[in-house]
Amino acid sequence: MPPNGSMDTSTKKAMTRNLRNSREHKLLVDKEKESEKNGIISGKNIFITGGAAGLGYAFCNHFLQFGANKICIIDVDEVAGGRIVVSTEKSHGAGKVIFIRADVSRYSEIVAAFEEAMSRMGGVDIVVNNAGIIDERRWEREIAVNMGGMISVAMLTIEYMGKHRDGRGGILINIAEHMDIKFTAQLPVYNATKQAIIGLSQSLAASCNTKRTGVRVITLCPGLTETALTIDSPNKLLSRVMKADFVKNLEQLTIQTPYVVAQGLMSILRTCESGSVWVIENGHSPFEVYLPNFRSLRRLYKNNFTITDDMKCGNKNQPITDAVCDSNLTDLTSCV
Ligand SMILES: NC(=O)c1ccc[n+]([C@@H]2O[C@H](COP(=O)([O-])OP(=O)(O)OC[C@H]3O[C@@H](n4cnc5c(N)ncnc54)[C@H](O)[C@@H]3O)[C@@H](O)[C@H]2O)c1
Repeated sequence: MPPNGSMDTSTKKAMTRNLRNSREHKLLVDKEKESEKNGIISGKNIFITGGAAGLGYAFCNHFLQFGANKICIIDVDEVAGGRIVVSTEKSHGAGKVIFIRADVSRYSEIVAAFEEAMSRMGGVDIVVNNAGIIDERRWEREIAVNMGGMISVAMLTIEYMGKHRDGRGGILINIAEHMDIKFTAQLPVYNATKQAIIGLSQSLAASCNTKRTGVRVITLCPGLTETALTIDSPNKLLSRVMKADFVKNLEQLTIQTPYVVAQGLMSILRTCESGSVWVIENGHSPFEVYLPNFRSLRRLYKNNFTITDDMKCGNKNQPITDAVCDSNLTDLTSCV
């Protein structure tokens, strides 16, 4: 502000513009909430695994704001779960959020959680299959939670919500991970478990299954997001030697908040088709990705092992290593 206390014209203009932008933003959000009243979340009962923290908790908050009827959080963290029940009771009324302690890697606990959720909410419309961990040193546990747990939850969703089982159908949202696997060199097992979830979703979303079950399946691949999982990840690698490279990779990425991912999921739910795969990264709006058709990505070789095709994907100048083209090593006789 100038010394005489009056504002110069450009500052005034900037302030008016900011005010208008923030008003417009608020109006837009209110409008979105209004249009959501009869939409996909309003009045729905939602089941979220790993909902006591990070992304799961952000999804829970967004669903409440957009008029969800009841939300059931499944998590191993009883303290955080209890805290969420108390705080949402104050903001949204009693019984809006139910917490059930269950470990997704234990099938019997998940069956019991589904039973309890069905009876306390009177049915489930949307399942967010979200609980996951990074723990490369205890990779059997990582597989048990990220793959075993997610597969159990997905299968039970079909059993409990499927029209073929007298359910009313609904939506299953599977949380995979960022598609850019060049940043996951230090997380081979985690990466394997997350890529498996894309395969799981694709099979369950096949039209023959969706027609029978009435359960639409979508896959969400968040980019790097600020949660406990990310913060602890440098200490969860297979070896301490990997830490420096891992942190260097992380530093190249833009980290986003869980709020942005939850907001993006709301937009996805408004438009998505079963089987679609979505990415939310760098704090930007979601975008859908096509899964590659491997035949269109086929690399062609001449006799002397030089690449002859104009590749649509991958590095054209990448040398072909002996291990790939030596038929003694790999039995790749088609190379010759
Ligand atoms: N944070 C990221 O950058 C990121 C990126 C891509 C995908 N993801 C995926 O998103 C999901 C959520 O991750 P987050 O970042 O919010 O992690 P987080 O650690 O912040 O939250 C995970 C929640 O899951 C719960 N949980 C862990 N193991 C469980 C089990 N066996 N049974 C039930 N609950 C369990 C935890 O107690 C916690 O409340 C995970 O599947 C993760 O792989 C995260």
